[in-house]
Amino acid sequence: MSDALKAFEGELQSKSFKGYWQNQQGDVARQPVASYEPCHWKGKDLFAAIEKAGEVVGLDLSFRRVIQLWNPALKNGTTRTLVLNLQMLKSGEEALSHRHMAGAVRFIVKGHGARLIVEGESFEIGEGDFATTPSWTWHDHENNSGQTMLWLDGLDAPLVRLLETDFHEPDPRKKQPVIKPEGYAASTLGALRPSWVRQNSIQPPAFAYKWEATEKALSRLGEQPGDPYDGIVLEYANPLTGGPTLPTMSCQIHMLRSGEKTKSHRHTASTIYYVHRGSGVSYIGDKRYEWEQGDSFVVPLWYFHRHENTSKDPAIFFVMNDKPLMDAIGHYREEAEG
Ligand SMILES: [Fe+2]
Ligand SMILES: [Fe+2]
Repeated sequence: MSDALKAFEGELQSKSFKGYWQNQQGDVARQPVASYEPCHWKGKDLFAAIEKAGEVVGLDLSFRRVIQLWNPALKNGTTRTLVLNLQMLKSGEEALSHRHMAGAVRFIVKGHGARLIVEGESFEIGEGDFATTPSWTWHDHENNSGQTMLWLDGLDAPLVRLLETDFHEPDPRKKQPVIKPEGYAASTLGALRPSWVRQNSIQPPAFAYKWEATEKALSRLGEQPGDPYDGIVLEYANPLTGGPTLPTMSCQIHMLRSGEKTKSHRHTASTIYYVHRGSGVSYIGDKRYEWEQGDSFVVPLWYFHRHENTSKDPAIFFVMNDKPLMDAIGHYREEAEG
């Protein structure tokens, strides 16, 4: 670089300018390159960590007893937009009500009978159930079940941090009064619904999806061809519109039948997998990952990936991706390998 150019760039910087040539991209063909790599978390490590947290971390210290699946290439979070955590709530424990810009979901991995209170409705939650606490909804929870509950917390908090729209408000009431009857959402948001219930927000209404129904759907759909890249896929749809789970994320259950091998593809959505049942192997980029029940792994955007169920039983994933976000801004692309 000439002295004259160096001096000119210094002058620009002193006036808060930057020359286009100072960015190294140039007018050449480009494809997305994720700034973080695939990552695999062993379930036995995750569950040992939360057990240990149960011994040494009180709710007085932490407000939530949560272990984050922290992708080491990122400052925080599991992907650039999403985070998956494991939370433990012992019997007799509760969390005070609050609301925040981040949208959140829960997938229950152990225990039955805790209560999640969202916008005045109390939802009973148990193993395999899935529940949403959309952006800016009041939520608290309590566990009077007599057993320890473990659930996955999925949030779009990394996206919120990226956008710097991080509103957060503790509830002055501490605990929400339950003002809706038991089963209110289930009876007003199904295929048979009152005429006055309409979508009036980009956010879906809070909803709980029961494992019993999920399992029934999986067994009924098990003979269908399914998706060549993911096997049998069920999306936890917005109950009012049939759209994605939340505006920022799609949450799904995938089932790979015994011996099933998917085709390889890549897309601009990043995906987090949690192995709810079964064992098998996934190929992400040029690496091979063997997984079993309780494991999690992440497929960053634009990495080719495929999965194999190597066991004799069905494998079931709980999956989160940021495809709705990519769709909303026209950035979703998908490509088959070969
Ligand atoms: Fe929260
Ligand atoms: Fe995929």
